[in-house]
Amino acid sequence: MPDHNKNILSIAPMMDRTDLHFRNLLRLITKNTLLYTEMINTNTIIHDQNNRFNIESDCRGPVALQIGCSDPISAGKAAKIFGQSNFHEININCGCPSNKVVNGNFGACLMKEPKKVGEMIEAIKEYCNIPISVKTRIGLDNFDTDKFLEEFITELDNKKVTTVIIHARIAVLKGLSPHENRIIPPLNYERVKFIKKSFKHMQIIINGGIQNLNQAKHFLKDFDGSMIGRAAWDNPWMFSKAENIFFNNENNISRYEIVNNYIEYAKKYISLGHTQRRLIRPLFNIFYGVQGSKLWKQQLNDIANNKIDINSICDLVYQIEEILEEAA
Ligand SMILES: Cc1cc2nc3c(=O)[nH]c(=O)nc-3n(C[C@H](O)[C@H](O)[C@H](O)COP(=O)(O)O)c2cc1C
Repeated sequence: MPDHNKNILSIAPMMDRTDLHFRNLLRLITKNTLLYTEMINTNTIIHDQNNRFNIESDCRGPVALQIGCSDPISAGKAAKIFGQSNFHEININCGCPSNKVVNGNFGACLMKEPKKVGEMIEAIKEYCNIPISVKTRIGLDNFDTDKFLEEFITELDNKKVTTVIIHARIAVLKGLSPHENRIIPPLNYERVKFIKKSFKHMQIIINGGIQNLNQAKHFLKDFDGSMIGRAAWDNPWMFSKAENIFFNNENNISRYEIVNNYIEYAKKYISLGHTQRRLIRPLFNIFYGVQGSKLWKQQLNDIANNKIDINSICDLVYQIEEILEEAA
């Protein structure tokens, strides 16, 4: 049974950001927010030479796997593998505008090939019972109309996809970098509202430009869920309020406890050979906007460079929490 509450709040897939460790830090902060992996190419899953997929699937709570895929054959082969995993959702990337992705004929350019996307969905369903969703943009290049997006979503609807995440900007495939593609094309929430009105039975999730949880909550008037990307990386601690605001759960855990728990987790992966820097990285922004955050980042840098011991983090959090309490 699909859980229709699952997508009301989610953290977006972000390459080089939402890796296993960032997600596991967020999981300590919020039990119920749906977390997405960064995009993983189906070829990486099929060949999995570095055991990457196996590591990524070591996750707790609601987590969605985002795949990058350009053809039904590799979709089916990968589905045989991820069909055995405990991901709660498989998401097909139809929104990424990077050159590499476009040259590989997947990501945003798939919006021009709805039939092929439909075939990939069929291929995945053959081997996998996990619900499938699609993440897309509101258009691409000159295909910037309600009708174009409606036709694309119609194909997904025909294939019984129930959840679509829409980044409310077009993708510009020639002339803009992925970074510029997240700031230059203007946000157009109205087109996403039009889609929601036309496909009332589908779960339409809004993405793009959401800065905080209050804004995310506000969007639930018009959409079935809100997805937050960059703001989650910049300020992960804001999700400590997610349980209260979205899931009717009490959550009074402190930053001190979270960091303590995370350090225990980090030590396990460091002993398995993951670098200290990679484990420390998700913690950098946990004191976003707080007096003392500069000191925090300096110390973390020293820990990441193996200059001081990882256990000293907990003392530092304690000191910063004390400064915060005094200031309150
Ligand atoms: C560093 C970075 C990497 C991203 N990687 C992916 C990705 O792997 N797959 C994807 O669908 N979107 C990716 N995105 C786009 C985000 O998922 C999201 O759609 C976009 O940032 C807009 O949401 P926001 O305004 O809340 O950040 C990435 C964004 C950033 C900033």
